[in-house]
Amino acid sequence: MMMLTGKVALVTGAGAGIGRAIAESYAREGARLVISDVNAALGAETVATIEALGGQAVFVKADVAEAAGHVALVAAAHQHFGALHIACNNAGIAGGGRALTETTDEDWGRVIAVNLTGVFLGMRAQIPAIAAAGGGAIVNIASVLGSVAIPNSAPYVASKHGCVGLTRAAALEAAGQKVRVNAVGPGFIATPMAAKLDQASIDAIAAKHALGRWGTAQEIAEVALWLASDKASFVTGAYYTADGGYSAQ
Ligand SMILES: NC(=O)c1ccc[n+]([C@@H]2O[C@H](COP(=O)([O-])OP(=O)(O)OC[C@H]3O[C@@H](n4cnc5c(N)ncnc54)[C@H](O)[C@@H]3O)[C@@H](O)[C@H]2O)c1
Repeated sequence: MMMLTGKVALVTGAGAGIGRAIAESYAREGARLVISDVNAALGAETVATIEALGGQAVFVKADVAEAAGHVALVAAAHQHFGALHIACNNAGIAGGGRALTETTDEDWGRVIAVNLTGVFLGMRAQIPAIAAAGGGAIVNIASVLGSVAIPNSAPYVASKHGCVGLTRAAALEAAGQKVRVNAVGPGFIATPMAAKLDQASIDAIAAKHALGRWGTAQEIAEVALWLASDKASFVTGAYYTADGGYSAQ
């Protein structure tokens, strides 16, 4: 028996990296998927991969910073598959990598809009739909930087700490509607988001993890799959780090 047989799931930022790995994992376990991204070409690639696996997926272009996009994603789940049971709010951006005192209003605003407001707008649209389907799960992709900080990433660190708090607040409110809400805290994961770094930085970051390496998108997808499935039926309001021991030190 597959873990998500009969379920309908949506994944934001599913055109690349962690979101794509999560969408493919959900599909392999039997879910039908609404794939969303701001990049339509990347989203189409994820849909094609899922269809090649024998799964079903539709793409809807949406910017998670805009409320209307989330409403459209929920509507697409209903239109194409008749319900929504699972939502993974994954889309996120890194920001400018500047000192706090050098951070522009624009950089602060955009990182908060995508990484934090995007999760709020997503859950506002998703919770009633999942409740109407009889219950289900929301998985928010935060970061290990949802619980610890690094220099030169203040908007990102603040947005991810906020995402963890938002997850807990939503979990308390949605529990009565049988909607579980959890967050994942990935350590540094080899995805396009991290592709701009030089080799010395890549090695230095690897050394900060107790396991001595970067994680893979699939290693995060495994956690996001379990949290979305009924195997995690008593887990809500939790923040699961999958960080190779980064924050244990
Ligand atoms: N890569 C890491 O080291 C790492 C670590 C911890 C947490 N995360 C988090 O995991 C999530 C995915 O990261 P990733 O590394 O796979 O990133 P990525 O840049 O490789 O992929 C992100 C995807 O989201 C899409 N996207 C960007 N802005 C969007 C928006 N406004 N609306 C909709 N889609 C948008 C992009 O087009 C892209 O396809 C993010 O929330 C990120 O903060 C990543």
